Amino acid sequence: SRAKKVAVLPGDGIGPEIVEQAVRVLHQVEKKFGCSLEFSYGMIGGGAIDRAGTPLPDETLQLCKQCDAVLLGAVGGPAWDHYPPEIRPEKALLQLRKELGLFSNLRPVMQFDGLESSSALRPEVIKDVDLVVVRELTGGIYFGEKTRINTPDGEVASDLLIYHEYEVERIVRQAFEIAEKRRKKVTSVDKANVLESSRLWRKVAEKVSQEYPDVTLEHMLVDNCAMQIVQRPSTFDVLVTENMFGDILSDEAAVLSGSIGLLPSASLGRGTFGLYEPVHGSAPDIAGQGVANPAATLLSAAMMLRYSFGYHEAANAVEEAVKQVIAKGFRTPDLIKEGQIKMAVDTEEFGALVIKEIDQSEVAPETKAN
Ligand code: NAD
Ligand code: IPM
Ligand code: MN
Repeated sequence: SRAKKVAVLPGDGIGPEIVEQAVRVLHQVEKKFGCSLEFSYGMIGGGAIDRAGTPLPDETLQLCKQCDAVLLGAVGGPAWDHYPPEIRPEKALLQLRKELGLFSNLRPVMQFDGLESSSALRPEVIKDVDLVVVRELTGGIYFGEKTRINTPDGEVASDLLIYHEYEVERIVRQAFEIAEKRRKKVTSVDKANVLESSRLWRKVAEKVSQEYPDVTLEHMLVDNCAMQIVQRPSTFDVLVTENMFGDILSDEAAVLSGSIGLLPSASLGRGTFGLYEPVHGSAPDIAGQGVANPAATLLSAAMMLRYSFGYHEAANAVEEAVKQVIAKGFRTPDLIKEGQIKMAVDTEEFGALVIKEIDQSEVAPETKAN
């Protein structure tokens, strides 16, 4: 079959450092599995503001539309924080998600062997954690009307949290589809005791659940959920929630794995096209030092192989390789707690170790992608 086209958008801060490792790993996947990927690079975020005057140049958007998937690093940083909202780096990401129709953001949170003591939480609390946050990505408070006006009493600002029934329905359905293939439990997270949009969300969730009799639906208020996620995380399977709630809860859930540098994401729409990026940001505090954890981006690349290309064997191999490298005790600094003796590695060394694992992994010839 023809080569799969990947738009590569490294972005700002640690973005280029971690994406470089993901592309190296994908080249190893091509070699090992006999598939063919074609990489085209584009500008996005602060770098694009500096070089092209806009965070999302039209040629970048067109490039993404011509490709089968997008691999993105991260955008943003202190240099652009004072820019007006329309030309902020983050605006590019929001625009890209919206323009590409990527309403469904999957953020899996796993346990890694060997990291039991890397979490801020006790090992017995994080034991058996295996959940996925299904975050609505193109609606809600991120995309509702914004206002900013001067009044005699001072400035007034607002962000509208608005949902159409169809927007809730398609994301909740996605959560049920995923739950059917997992532990068959959906937790719908809302603030229905206060917000009208949440009351609609709950009603739609109830309706959709009728179509999935073998999946259990529970509703949970978001404040309680934020607590339960660290109190009894292993009881969650699939969480589905509004855009901003999902943003916040997924960063919180990173504590379960041990670092935000381990959390990948896939943003999907109707077809197989997808955008793949780590959950974390551009980490300006460590950018340029070559010490960022590339695992989240490597695992995002694995999700791309699985969801956009159907290369399940290759996807498993990348995930397995990342897990193996960690299980063997290799750690980027974010995973080393004070007083722990571990084999410290930098971004590039971690990538090289993953490549070596993939190279040495066993592949049944009949499962090779073609
Ligand atoms: P952040 O996720 O960039 O960083 C939070 C903390 O986690 C920092 O201490 C950072 O060093 C650490 N961290 C993040 N990724 C890491 C990795 N791979 N390895 C090791 N440590 C890692 O969040 P922030 O500091 O709030 O935001 C910084 C900038 O990134 C802001 O401009 C924000 O808007 C942007 N941002 C972008 C995205 C994205 O592009 N998808 C996501 C979140 C934040
Ligand atoms: C994320 C980020 C983005 C979001 C920002 C950078 C717009 O935090 O992908 O989680 O809030 O969606
Ligand atoms: Mn976020």
